[in-house]
Amino acid sequence: MFAPSVFAARRARLQQAGLSGLLLFVGNVDSPMNYHDNTLPFVQDSSFRYFFGLNEPALAGVIDADSGEATLFGNDPDVSDIVWTGPLPSLSERAAKAAVGRSRPYAELAQLLAEARAAGRPVRYLAPYRGETLIEMGRLLDVHPAVVKAGFCPALTRAVVALREIKGEEEIAEMESALGVTHAMHIAAMQNAKPGVLEYQVVGIMEGIMRRHDWHLAYPSIFSKRGEVLHNHGHGNVLQQGDLVLNDTGCASGGGYASDITRTFPVGGKFSTRQRELYDIVLEMQEAAIAAIKPGIKYQDIHKLSAAVMVERMAELGFFRGDADAIVESGAYAIAFPHGLGHQIGMDVHDMEALGEDLVGYGDGAERSPLFGLGYLRLGKPLKAGMVVTVEPGVYFIPALIEAWEKEERHSAFINYAKFREYADFGGIRIEDNVLVTADGSRVLGEPIPKTVEEIEAVMAV
Ligand code: GLY
Ligand code: MN
Ligand code: MN
Repeated sequence: MFAPSVFAARRARLQQAGLSGLLLFVGNVDSPMNYHDNTLPFVQDSSFRYFFGLNEPALAGVIDADSGEATLFGNDPDVSDIVWTGPLPSLSERAAKAAVGRSRPYAELAQLLAEARAAGRPVRYLAPYRGETLIEMGRLLDVHPAVVKAGFCPALTRAVVALREIKGEEEIAEMESALGVTHAMHIAAMQNAKPGVLEYQVVGIMEGIMRRHDWHLAYPSIFSKRGEVLHNHGHGNVLQQGDLVLNDTGCASGGGYASDITRTFPVGGKFSTRQRELYDIVLEMQEAAIAAIKPGIKYQDIHKLSAAVMVERMAELGFFRGDADAIVESGAYAIAFPHGLGHQIGMDVHDMEALGEDLVGYGDGAERSPLFGLGYLRLGKPLKAGMVVTVEPGVYFIPALIEAWEKEERHSAFINYAKFREYADFGGIRIEDNVLVTADGSRVLGEPIPKTVEEIEAVMAV
């Protein structure tokens, strides 16, 4: 947890957004695995944690936007809790860790909110995304849970996004610490992905490294030789010599920040000519995108620039024909690159996505594209110094997509379907790094993880 003054400063900056009334942040509760006391690893609500620091269940925070006063709501442990948990800090001791001057029993929160509403003061909150929170907020606000979500405050959301999307030095340090462990996980994966090994055995090795730090995954790992299945969470295949493995794995640090890294490598440690040709294209897409990152440029334009690199290079191999810009503008390129170039990353792997993907990723002159592929881009708006984004281009051969488009002759002037069919069993390649937007460009965060063909082959040769 950062120093108490960090949280006080964040709340003070939020107060400067000029909102009136009470700003309510309800923290997460424990989620049962299968009965109440058998819980999943606790994950705090990121906005609560951003302003109130505490990584414990059953807390809420209120900031009075008019006076600036913050209050932590929760319960002091009683002896029947302590029997099970051991000694715990008091509520006021916990509040002090985030420089919150007032703490009150949780039972008083509903009454405070009712009094504010009766006095005509707005109660502003962010859109909840968990069922338990939705029900609890319905109770706190005395409305049906179904109307809670629609009542979230867009102005508060924009103010929170404006703060959370610019990372402070302490946050960057925390993200680089997450990336240090992620580095070790990815190298271990490359070195243990031998012929005959099951995918989940490699996943187990990676997770063991992370658990030795008492950390958890930031998202379910994708580790598969079927990398063309974009959200492939199965790990049941036996690795065979020459298989191309896509490993998209990141961790959530103890301080609550995510990493999100993808590497793709061949089982046995040597890229075939075919694999190398396409791998180098994805690397060039990523390098061109990273080189273009700077404040003011729309991420949507960087996505297109990266797609244009792919089209030009894949046209040389015979996959596309025609003008590269026209192929990008038509959306035809998405047959091989059907997802977005990246997203913001911070406390959440898709940072703040729960607050509304368009509110977080669009605006400032950027609108979501209706095109298949580009329409999945989560971040389209102009970049600002201090943002951290993922840069994750890919090339995939998805047999069902190739077949469906060919059948309807979609973009058939641009796409050489016969060539795509030859690669139907190829799989997929993605390369993903986490990149800080600086005042005049960008910096790839963390110690470099082997990425060129030569670097990967060298680390796999040991
Ligand atoms: N690992 C999820 C993503 O790359 O967006
Ligand atoms: Mn990502
Ligand atoms: Mn990823």
